Amino acid sequence: MTSAPEPPEIRWGTLLLRPWSAGDASVVLTALNDPEIALWNASAVRTVEEATDWIVRRADWSAGDHVSLAVVDSLSGELVGSVSLHQIDHEQGDAEIGYWTAPAARGRGVASGAVTALCRWAFLQLPIDRIELCHAADNPASARVAAKAGFTQEGRLRQSYRYGDGRKHDELLWSLLRGDLPIDS
Ligand SMILES: CC(C)(COP(=O)(O)OP(=O)(O)OC[C@H]1O[C@@H](n2cnc3c(N)ncnc32)[C@H](O)[C@@H]1OP(=O)(O)O)[C@@H](O)C(=O)NCCC(=O)NCCS
Repeated sequence: MTSAPEPPEIRWGTLLLRPWSAGDASVVLTALNDPEIALWNASAVRTVEEATDWIVRRADWSAGDHVSLAVVDSLSGELVGSVSLHQIDHEQGDAEIGYWTAPAARGRGVASGAVTALCRWAFLQLPIDRIELCHAADNPASARVAAKAGFTQEGRLRQSYRYGDGRKHDELLWSLLRGDLPIDS
């Protein structure tokens, strides 16, 4: 039996993590067709209608198995990224995290901040004590996000996932445990 969490708004510095809304469709369409995002977060979204479907799926939390949020720069109001917990397993008490940042917003702490903020929220609000992060071994920027967000690298999964180029890549597996983060409130 799973229970769906209430969609939150989470603030982390100047970042605001909020539920997806229909008005995000054109930004989502552009972002998902960025070559780097198409490679490492492949999803076949080619039209505004498909972007709207992508948003509708992420805005429906009823199954209780994911928490998907848009990342907004609260100073400019610009939608700058995506962060999500998926495969939330209430029995095992674990989940996986994924993310992307729009090209213009990269290199200023968006992904690492969003990952940190969502993990902290999740350890406080969900019955989980372990979050896994997996990325292609040849995606060093993602490895940097994992390290900056406090994850510990656990190993290399050989030829474990087919990415947007149609090839299977080795992946690096990282984890964050509830006890790794100082959470007092
Ligand atoms: C990976 C990605 C999410 C990072 O987003 P971001 O908002 O720029 O991340 P942050 O600013 O928090 O941190 C990025 C770090 O990676 C570093 N970095 C960027 N490109 C790098 C590269 N080619 N090699 C090594 N480090 C790199 C940055 O310097 C920064 O580290 P620093 O703060 O120590 O300087 C973004 O580049 C992206 O969306 N890429 C395409 C999709 C993707 O890879 N998604 C993740 C799938 S697992």
